[in-house]
Amino acid sequence: MKKEDLKALLADMSLQEKADQMMQLMGLFYLDDAEGVLTGPARELGVGEEDFWMTGSILGTYGAEQLMAIQKKYMEKQPHHIPMLFMMDVIHGLKTVFPMPLAQGATFEPELSGRCAQAAAREAAVSGLHVTFSPMVDLVRDARWGRVMESTGEDPYLNGLFAKAQVEGFQGDDIGKPYKVCSCVKHFAAYGGAWAGRDYNTVELTEHTLREFYLPPYKAAIDAGVGMVMTSFNTVNGIPASTNRWLMRDILRDEMGFDGVLISDFSAILETVAHGNSADEADAAKKALEAGVDIDMMTSVYAANLCRLVEEGKVSEALIDESVMRILELKNKLGLFENPYKDANPEEEKTVILCDEHRKLAKEAAGKCFVLLKNDGLLPVDMSKKVAFVGPYTNCKEIISSWAVTGDVNACVSIEEAAREVFDLTRTTFHQGCQMLDNDYHLTGFGNLGESVPGKLSEEEQKKMFEEAVEAAKKADLVIMPIGEHFLQTGEAASRAMIDVPEIQMNLFREVSKVNENIVVVLFNGRPLDLRELSKTAKAVLDVWLPGTEGGHAIVDALTGKINPSGKLPMSFPYCVGQVPVHYNEYSTGRPNLEGMQERFKSKYIDIPNAPLYPFGYGLSYTDFEISPVTLSGDVVTDVQPIRACVTVKNTGKVEGTEVIQLYIQDVAASVVRPVKELKRFEKVKLCPGEEKKAEFIIDEEMLRFLRADGTVGSEEGKFRVWIGNSSNTKNEAVFSYQK
Ligand code: IFM
Repeated sequence: MKKEDLKALLADMSLQEKADQMMQLMGLFYLDDAEGVLTGPARELGVGEEDFWMTGSILGTYGAEQLMAIQKKYMEKQPHHIPMLFMMDVIHGLKTVFPMPLAQGATFEPELSGRCAQAAAREAAVSGLHVTFSPMVDLVRDARWGRVMESTGEDPYLNGLFAKAQVEGFQGDDIGKPYKVCSCVKHFAAYGGAWAGRDYNTVELTEHTLREFYLPPYKAAIDAGVGMVMTSFNTVNGIPASTNRWLMRDILRDEMGFDGVLISDFSAILETVAHGNSADEADAAKKALEAGVDIDMMTSVYAANLCRLVEEGKVSEALIDESVMRILELKNKLGLFENPYKDANPEEEKTVILCDEHRKLAKEAAGKCFVLLKNDGLLPVDMSKKVAFVGPYTNCKEIISSWAVTGDVNACVSIEEAAREVFDLTRTTFHQGCQMLDNDYHLTGFGNLGESVPGKLSEEEQKKMFEEAVEAAKKADLVIMPIGEHFLQTGEAASRAMIDVPEIQMNLFREVSKVNENIVVVLFNGRPLDLRELSKTAKAVLDVWLPGTEGGHAIVDALTGKINPSGKLPMSFPYCVGQVPVHYNEYSTGRPNLEGMQERFKSKYIDIPNAPLYPFGYGLSYTDFEISPVTLSGDVVTDVQPIRACVTVKNTGKVEGTEVIQLYIQDVAASVVRPVKELKRFEKVKLCPGEEKKAEFIIDEEMLRFLRADGTVGSEEGKFRVWIGNSSNTKNEAVFSYQK
């Protein structure tokens, strides 16, 4: 449709019809018989029949046949036959599930993440979807927050690269093209800063920190052309995001240049009443509209109040027109006025979903996200040994995360299934050992994952299973222990105050370690955990996160050495929970606790170290790499003259491997305090044994810019440190200066 036609359409719409375009309801309302819904849940929500058939979009339903049927029926009733938008959380895959986003961050390979998004978009598109609520680019520092698994970690630069790659993967260069969906970046802004890691809690940040660390990844998504943005549940500067005019109009739209559709999070506009920022629903509707929120997700706050507010002269109809035009434009960009079904295709669903190509990609991504945290020589496994797999993840297919709501658990490959294809079964045994969680552990599921709450074996059954596993461990040369968090212990509304492997599994680990000292832990987790005990006792720890559909195959390849782990932590693993939030790029303090220092009056704990157990950027390999001292092509960077920083990386081990070479800088003195280190560039270097390569980075003036004391972005003259190494704790340092 041409712009003039969209304008004519808008001009012809009734005010209520416009307000209803701004409402989003659950798709399941449209699956049941309408009468039942209209007298039941829709009525409870304050949605009448007329609004029901004029709703602009639905969420949470997929499947080509279903969505085509909904669209057909809906368009017949909608006064102007305007097509509906279908949205859903396709976070790390629809049916083929790729590693959870934090694990994708560990690949340090945004391009790979982009390919995963592209495949996810293809499955989503043939299933009839138009929009995915992804990527989530919230910067995360507090491992207690369950949603850290949806982010790519604690670094704004890395998150920005992943944001761009994923948006481009979902959308391609034109969302109207086949197999593309509109991407919705979330949650604007700073949802990852929830205090004490408690979901939906207040966020308290200085504007400086907000701008310096939290905003850049959203900006990267906007620059990549993201079609939608979702508001966050939290407050920013004391005002809930969904009613925060400064955040949404001044920053998001004016400063960042976002001109797409802004949607609230689920009932977030209504929740501003509970926040105490809106007096009632009408006030919430007014404030959110004035802040520029175009779609109200899953309440009738807009639909029930906007017309009256206009009639009473309390809000301007022009604001509603502005929002509705953005929604119509999105529908137009997707080509829905010409073809309201877009790529929905029941036949293609059968060939595209879980196709070999997608499974292969899922395996590649899983293999690249594993982080080898410790290896005292037990890995890769010596295949001549007698091996016992012991732990609740041994034959578990629930390895796809609580945000893979559409994921097909049955299509997942468990470790045991994959190991049976490779290991010599005359000397390999498999044992669950214990339940994932104690029977009295309180855990509620959501969506179609509600069934998955832990097993409920009797004490006697559990004892038998436990003893049998310990006995098998005793007889084995090597014990591989697939253990970790239950997948419902992470994700939305899954904050944890104790970030450890569940006690029931730790008990199994302790008993096994009494009978066998050769333990390899295969760790499943949605967040950084307190691993002190595990990593002290086990001889090897391989972090496999929640690796997705092909997790089992990739894990077995990593255990046997077919895959050499190359992942790096995108988020620091704290020494213990009392240390969080801990992140490598902290600001310098006036009393730094420099290494080896024993003085009392320094910024430190008296009972634990300042350093995390495993820092950002850390990860081992089955081979060894030697990194030469940093060499600089000059020691002064100017506005016109960059310098080159180089290291030579050599594979000094016996097998091929990939190392992530990371460049960090520090601005030593500036108008505002600077982080002690900031990741600025990285490069993945693949080397055969004995091979060496140069990793070279350009340091130019642009790399040295930051948010200065006067609020402008720019560089400042003075001394800088640069480090190049294979982790954020590298000591491989050189010094240069910047002069204008
Ligand atoms: O996209 C999500 C969001 O991340 C959390 N609340 C619900 C939304 C829609 O499912």
